[in-house]
Amino acid sequence: MQTFDSHNRQRVLHELGLGPMWLLRDAEPAIPVAVVETRFEPVIVPAPVPEPAMAGAGSPVKSAWSELEVEKSKNLPEVQPVAPVVENTSEPDAWLVQEIVPDMPTEDMSQTSQEPAITTLSWDELQPMVESCRQCGLCQGRKKAVFGTGDQQARWLFVGEGPGYNENLQGLPFVGAAGQLLDNMLKSLGVPRGEQSYIANIVKCRPTDAQGKDRPPTADEIAACLPYLHRQIALIKPQIIVALGKTAAVSLLDMDLETPVGQLRGKVHQFKGIPVVASYHPAYLLRKPADKAKAWADLCLAIKAIPAG
Ligand code: URA
Repeated sequence: MQTFDSHNRQRVLHELGLGPMWLLRDAEPAIPVAVVETRFEPVIVPAPVPEPAMAGAGSPVKSAWSELEVEKSKNLPEVQPVAPVVENTSEPDAWLVQEIVPDMPTEDMSQTSQEPAITTLSWDELQPMVESCRQCGLCQGRKKAVFGTGDQQARWLFVGEGPGYNENLQGLPFVGAAGQLLDNMLKSLGVPRGEQSYIANIVKCRPTDAQGKDRPPTADEIAACLPYLHRQIALIKPQIIVALGKTAAVSLLDMDLETPVGQLRGKVHQFKGIPVVASYHPAYLLRKPADKAKAWADLCLAIKAIPAG
């Protein structure tokens, strides 16, 4: 099992932008809030309790909070505010609607039986298949498929929901403000993007609504795309998977979208023998920085869940 010393814990909290919050417990949080991608809802409803849901006495979260308070006299460097967001200013409620059905192409998009089963593909075969995939209507609006990025033998796999505006243009996952926060989380865990970590999404093409705005993927789109992620997982063989947001968690764990949030966070799930921890989507954390404490608890749980050896 990995250990996570006090220095690293402080670093994680700092990278997550938690430092000033602890210092100003009785005041308004000093962290600038950059509101961006509003489609992501919390995995768990924030509870008005003083301690994070998973923070029992003696838990890593609680001790980290205490340590950080001590740290206020030690001149921690200034927390850099997350860059302001420009993309997606649509109404939050719109993203709660899961039933939006995209315009389906009229032609038959099913792949032929001649193509090799996805479960046998190598990395070099899988990526072009994803990039030319026509298994669902999302391919119609695709500029670039977002295959995933990182260390192909990563210990940590982070799974998001699906590409947004910028990701669709660049073909890379998490390139916006939420990605900046995710990068900080990875760095603080010692697994910066590309080193011991891999980032992928449940769907590889950007889901948009009739107005061209981001939306969550439908059940059919998820079902069409999941085999690619499953193959990526089989190739990577990560030791821990962190599901970022409810869509990622329920899709990966094959749970109903209506699964109560309490059944997702705070426990170690399994995907084919690999531990899975559900946490918040970084875009949600940008909107609700107070819940970064719970995200920290999730990362602590993930560290503990990594198999020994
Ligand atoms: N949100 C996601 O879930 N994935 C991305 O790649 C970008 C934003």
